[in-house]
Amino acid sequence: MALAALQSAALAAIVLASVTMAPAFVPCSAELQRFERSPKPDGSLSLLVIGDWGRNGLFNQSEVAFQMGRIGDELDIDLVISTGDNFYEYGLAGVDDKRFEESFSNVYTAKSLQKQWYSVLGNHDYRGNVLAQLSPVLRSIDGRWLCLRSFILNAEIVDFFFVDTTPFQESYWTNPGKHHHDWREVAPRGTYISNLLKDLDAALKESTAPWKIVVGHHTMKSVSEHGDTPELLTLLLPVLKSNGVDLYVNGHDHCLEHISSNDSPIQYLTSGGGSKAWRGVSHSNSGKLHFFYDGQGFMSLQLTSSAADLAFYDVFGRVLYKWSVAKSLRPAA
Ligand SMILES: *[C@@H]1O[C@H](CO)[C@@H](O)[C@H](O)[C@H]1NC(C)=O
Repeated sequence: MALAALQSAALAAIVLASVTMAPAFVPCSAELQRFERSPKPDGSLSLLVIGDWGRNGLFNQSEVAFQMGRIGDELDIDLVISTGDNFYEYGLAGVDDKRFEESFSNVYTAKSLQKQWYSVLGNHDYRGNVLAQLSPVLRSIDGRWLCLRSFILNAEIVDFFFVDTTPFQESYWTNPGKHHHDWREVAPRGTYISNLLKDLDAALKESTAPWKIVVGHHTMKSVSEHGDTPELLTLLLPVLKSNGVDLYVNGHDHCLEHISSNDSPIQYLTSGGGSKAWRGVSHSNSGKLHFFYDGQGFMSLQLTSSAADLAFYDVFGRVLYKWSVAKSLRPAA
């Protein structure tokens, strides 16, 4: 009750402000919203990453969810990250769309998964009512849900930068075919992207956490169906490279992958195996392919200030691949 009243008061204030300021008000560099959380008392943080999932439990979504619950318990996870394409095929129709419960609340039921979920939007989410997934109303239905376009999570040993990548892909704007994208609050593309990159660059420069992890929906480097996303390589990657980002984590391709390249220390990780998979496609890539699995599964990440351990799991919860990296303390500037 109190929260709802607060929300509607805030909403009224926003509406009032935008009405009074409407003629001249052009949002140019809205700062990215920040969230904070602490690591465990021993200084570690563990989490799971899942992408491309919401299909009413079908296509092994429920099986993957079950194993996430088991591994989540084993690793005592603190949070879950969703790399987008949260609800197929057309996002949510509105805040009262039952697919929110059918594909999220009723599927990820394990005790260990009753943690905060941090989600970005995928291109399929843009095919529905995109504002519904961003609405605080969903948080009142299931308190785990947090989905914003671009935002930051500060967790002391790591800063996560969530980036809304769908507007980057130009063909969605110029050649959408039969698909409609809900570009409300995003168009025009150029202004949106340049403001976002400016805000991201500033936030990355401010970050003093040992680990910097960027999460988006679209692939940076991928050997599967969609391959690399050229707009991200051209526009987003330079910002990550110049700011010492450690990991770029994405979905979009319905598989699990780890790729690196010689031109930067960034590791490219795809966790898009939340439901429908098995595309049967594998292209070559200019990067160095460490691991590729075409089927369903998910990723875990365990962090301390000096080490990162990641693993990919299949639909039976079996570890398919593990990778670790140590962080050498940077000399003080
Ligand atoms: C579910 O997973 C099993 C094991 O990987 C696989 O054989 C089966 O084809 C999957 N089902 C679907 C619909 O992808």
